[in-house]
Amino acid sequence: MSLSEDLVLINAKLVTMTQDNDGYSVSPLCNLHIKNGAIHSITHGHVAASDVFDCQGRLVTPGFIDCHTHLIFAGSRADEFEKRLQGVPYQEIAKQGGGILSTVRATRQASEQQLIELALPRLEGLIRSGVTSVEVKSGYGLTLNDELKMLRAAKALEGHRKIRISTTLLAAHALPPEYTGRADDYIDYVCNEIIPAAAEEKLASSVDVFCESIGFNLKQTEKVFQAAIDNGLAVKGHTEQLSNLGGSALTAKYSGLSADHIEYLDEEGVIALARSNTVATLLPGAFYFLREKQLPPIEMLRHHQVPMAIATDLNPGTSPFADLTMMMNMGCTLFGLTPEETLRGVTNHAAQAIGLGDKIGQIKPGFEADLAIWDVEHPAEFSYFQGAPRLVARLVAGEFDYA
Ligand code: NIG
Ligand code: FE
Repeated sequence: MSLSEDLVLINAKLVTMTQDNDGYSVSPLCNLHIKNGAIHSITHGHVAASDVFDCQGRLVTPGFIDCHTHLIFAGSRADEFEKRLQGVPYQEIAKQGGGILSTVRATRQASEQQLIELALPRLEGLIRSGVTSVEVKSGYGLTLNDELKMLRAAKALEGHRKIRISTTLLAAHALPPEYTGRADDYIDYVCNEIIPAAAEEKLASSVDVFCESIGFNLKQTEKVFQAAIDNGLAVKGHTEQLSNLGGSALTAKYSGLSADHIEYLDEEGVIALARSNTVATLLPGAFYFLREKQLPPIEMLRHHQVPMAIATDLNPGTSPFADLTMMMNMGCTLFGLTPEETLRGVTNHAAQAIGLGDKIGQIKPGFEADLAIWDVEHPAEFSYFQGAPRLVARLVAGEFDYA
């Protein structure tokens, strides 16, 4: 990215999302000075600068961050959606070799270039909802080569659009068919070969595990977390989505960045997250699309002051949604979050969930100039009205990309 210097956004109303009380309030008209791709200062009154963009009183927020996606995949699971509507549960489809494994078959057959081309329209959807950073997981390859292929495809998206991509290795997503009955052997392969290779090639900054009855048990999850730490990578977990195995507390024990889904999390787990300052990432799209009934423990998370993020979980099986503001709407309507909580959930808390809490997600001097300019009067509108485009422009590291 080439860096623009001395760009000033004038007549901007800022919603800074800083951690103080003012973060969610709309500022009076001001000027946002950007230098070398970062936020330099906020001033009031007339500015004399050559490169000026007039926001005309529009709202400016930090660029939104989708901190949990499975953006890279091939194939479709529309047939499975139809089956589920006829009453076959997600777990049953998985046990019959469908579900995640059906996407694994299609993704293994696709080239890196094909995966990029398939991902671009999905990325476009996220971008339209104001997203400037996306976390992307592997997990549909389940061999060394196919997992690395997915991570390379994810990283390559930065060459196609103005976007920041953060990659997570999710080789422990499902047991590949060639390891049937040998889950521990597969976990050894993940720990001894796939994690070191991904770390060596700098293809991932964190490692995730699907800790669930249809995924991997606690002991296997812990092995993967230990291997991640040994290789200098952070950890996160798909935990407590369909049952309570204690995966979130384990994630906290390894100072994990985030525990995600967490519908079945109990108070012990909530306290563990609070102690390690691990973000609770809520994924209302998967809850909605699987027609789940068990709500995440929002009140307990609030009580123990666990930072909450909101993400799309964009994937072909449980959350086919390329729209982050729609997830904010679902966060409010399905989970009872406030619009302020959902906006924090896609800005500073989402930044923390990908380990970038001191770099993006707030409008603050020293932070990256990743911004979104909106035709919106009040920040509650992000969670409120859906479907009508209102993004005017995004900036990534101070560089403009008009909607
Ligand atoms: O986050 N829970 C496991 N992984 C994904 C679903 C992946 C799939 O079904 O393809 C999730 O919901
Ligand atoms: Fe997921």
